[in-house]
Amino acid sequence: RPPLRVALAGIGVVGGGVVRLLETNRDLIARRAGRTIEIVAVSARDRHKDRGIDLSRYRWEDDMDALVAADDVDVVVEMIGGADGSALTLARHTLGAGKALVTANKAMIAHHGLDLARLAEETDTPLKYEAAVAGGIPVIKAIREGASANEIARVYGILNGTCNYILTQMERNGASFADALAAAQAEGYAEADPTFDVDGIDAAHKLSILAALCFGTRLDIGAVAADGIRGLIAADIREAEALGHRVRLIGMAERNGDGLYQHVQPCLVPADHPLAYVPGALNAVVTEGNFVGRLFFEGAGAGAGPTASAIVADIIDIARDEYGPAFAMPVDSLDAAPVADAGAR
Ligand code: NDP
Ligand code: HSE
Repeated sequence: RPPLRVALAGIGVVGGGVVRLLETNRDLIARRAGRTIEIVAVSARDRHKDRGIDLSRYRWEDDMDALVAADDVDVVVEMIGGADGSALTLARHTLGAGKALVTANKAMIAHHGLDLARLAEETDTPLKYEAAVAGGIPVIKAIREGASANEIARVYGILNGTCNYILTQMERNGASFADALAAAQAEGYAEADPTFDVDGIDAAHKLSILAALCFGTRLDIGAVAADGIRGLIAADIREAEALGHRVRLIGMAERNGDGLYQHVQPCLVPADHPLAYVPGALNAVVTEGNFVGRLFFEGAGAGAGPTASAIVADIIDIARDEYGPAFAMPVDSLDAAPVADAGAR
């Protein structure tokens, strides 16, 4: 088969990881995909920035519209970030042009995923976003495919690597909140605006995507109640330990009577619970299905390598023509999400 030709938009932490992965594992990826995957064009804000990688063999494109329209581009990979603005315009243009879109952008999917999925259905083109939830853990694939025969009652877990890194640094090394956040930023885990991490917004984006997939409902980011870890101090962590617990930022979505309850908040987790053992920037996602029972997924939730791994897996699926509806089913078949009264719990 002819090569699958890919354009990369955004060459930061994640985009750099994708370049390295596609170059390093090129032959293995070609064998698994059944065809070569070629980067043909790259784009970011500043073409002169030193990114620590050699991009000279790829065409640099300043104009995102030209990137999408180029005849030699089959797939656009969006790694810019932000719910709206350039990322959303690029996504709409890509799907509107009938080209495949791969994105790591949970904010955009949480806010505009349904519209983008509808556009993808209209143009019969893939919309893939494995990297948007839980970094390198293939949890979207696991829920969409592996657990798709199940009625899922509940999905919960640790959905933000930056917060988990901060909490475990405070817990194990006595780091201050500010120092731990600075270290998470240096590792490339944090969002461009880290308030999205520490205020629970990033985890809320991911939870809303998981809920839509698990419950077959329409995404409803407005229905997620989110609290973060900004107010936590070292004494909170020590008190939790004295009570035999650890503090973790947990996102949970569950059916609650006729409603769907979605919440992100710092929780006291018993020290012997598997979620209490998830260290550093790792994430964990737990689902409870009526036939499969409890599934527990753990792995790197942030960072260049794991995120690139999820993105390239999506590209390989496209190369093999393996894709279905973006969410649990076609958009018109999704239920409106009934919103539970969170205060009633
Ligand atoms: P970075 O800030 O490191 O990179 C963003 C890239 O986008 C940069 O190359 C930047 O260009 C480019 N860019 C920003 N604005 C524009 C614009 N208006 N037009 C063109 N290019 C633009 O972010 P990350 O790589 O960390 O994250 C990218 C996406 O991946 C986000 O959606 C994020 O939420 C998501 N993600 C990140 C993870 C992580 O661990 N970091 C994990 C999972 C998902 P320039 O370099 O020239 O400034
Ligand atoms: N900022 C995000 C996190 C990146 O820390 O989890 C991965 O989505």
